[in-house]
Amino acid sequence: MTTDIIEEYKRTHPGSRKLHEQAVNAFAANGATHVTRLLVPFRPYITHARGSRKWDVDGNEYIDYVMGHGALILGHSHPAVVQAVQEQMAKGVQYGENHEQEVAWAELIKSMMPVAEKIEFCACGQEANLMAIRLARAFTGKKKVLRFVENFHGWAGEVAPAGSAGVVMPEVTFIPMNDLSKVEEELAKNEYAVIFTEGGGAHMDGQIPWDTDFIRALPALTKKYGTVWVIDEVVTGFRDSRGGWQEVVGVKPDLTTLGKCVGGGLPVGAVAGRTDILETLNPKTSLERYIRHTGTWNANPLLCSAGTTACKLYLNGESQKKANEFGAYLREKGNEVLEKRNINGRLYGRTIIHLYLGPIDYEPSDYTKPPTRDIAKIIDPKAVAIKAHLCLHLLQRGVATMGGRFFVLSAVHTKEDIDQTIDAFSDSLDAMIAEGVIKTA
Ligand SMILES: Cc1ncc(COP(=O)(O)O)c(C=O)c1O
Repeated sequence: MTTDIIEEYKRTHPGSRKLHEQAVNAFAANGATHVTRLLVPFRPYITHARGSRKWDVDGNEYIDYVMGHGALILGHSHPAVVQAVQEQMAKGVQYGENHEQEVAWAELIKSMMPVAEKIEFCACGQEANLMAIRLARAFTGKKKVLRFVENFHGWAGEVAPAGSAGVVMPEVTFIPMNDLSKVEEELAKNEYAVIFTEGGGAHMDGQIPWDTDFIRALPALTKKYGTVWVIDEVVTGFRDSRGGWQEVVGVKPDLTTLGKCVGGGLPVGAVAGRTDILETLNPKTSLERYIRHTGTWNANPLLCSAGTTACKLYLNGESQKKANEFGAYLREKGNEVLEKRNINGRLYGRTIIHLYLGPIDYEPSDYTKPPTRDIAKIIDPKAVAIKAHLCLHLLQRGVATMGGRFFVLSAVHTKEDIDQTIDAFSDSLDAMIAEGVIKTA
């Protein structure tokens, strides 16, 4: 039965199918240029996008919940960002010099995030995390890195997931999330330069959420043992609120890493944090602590034009508020659909809505939490496969998600978009119940 939807999808996506066949000869990862762009049989090939929607080579239209891997809280091609980029393109893409816009951009970030006493720009979120490790090592004189299993910080070097092929990371220790005594046990060894936490919780703003008490205990603990605490706000930075996730929880780390939304849709990374730590980038610092930072694309004028324009729009918090409201609407309506069909599952989250499919272990009073504390159930590979199949059903009904696992909201989604999404979600689930892929309780 499940092959029907695959055949139907192939039939309605002939142009994408052809491009996929070409792509397989060019890109080793079964034709995909990012692991989340993989799908059986293939994801659509997009020609253009605007606001909350995008269109493929076969003329199919999608309500988009990938939203540039979370980078587009202002939606696709926000007119102010487009205008700024077009004007800058004509003025010059890369001066290879200092310029006014980088200063304006840094000042905007500083005004939104109290942690940002100083800022350093780089090319992407992962690079910002790698820089945070360097800064922490140079500052503390220690070597080790403490990380949490499941937290994502990039694909390369010491920020790659545990057990990644081809990565050597003898200085990195992985521990489970939300276990304060384990954190203290490690930090007490006095070997750790840095500890990383992903903003919101593991995977796209908290598929596996943090215990708030755990997070609020970290400042005192890291201070006690002289370890630099980094919150990776690459996804959550200026998405969750004006001041990022740290503002939502009411904590102030030593360093924060940024990416995605901060660049208004163009590629960016940044480390923001305490002056004394970022001072290791200052040439006046003694040689053994000095980090000589290069990077062709650091704060280039084109992305500064997009970044400053976007950050100005984040200042009044309206975009974040709207994305939160649309998230709440999708969550509530979607949960009604699951409940009505007696499907064991739940939608939860703020501006990124996560789908949990599995047993309901308890009823969370907090809408940002899944109905289980068991991480294995949240990331159960069997559920991931079902969600990938849901992703295909949703695509066929004009809704693009990240693998059926996450719905990334923006300020430009509309109530109509979400009502249409809920219809597609209901129809997809009904089809999957008929296929026997989804069981009802
Ligand atoms: C929490 C988090 N940190 C870092 C990264 C890496 O950012 P980039 O892809 O810009 O290198 C990602 C990417 O999705 C992320 O989700």
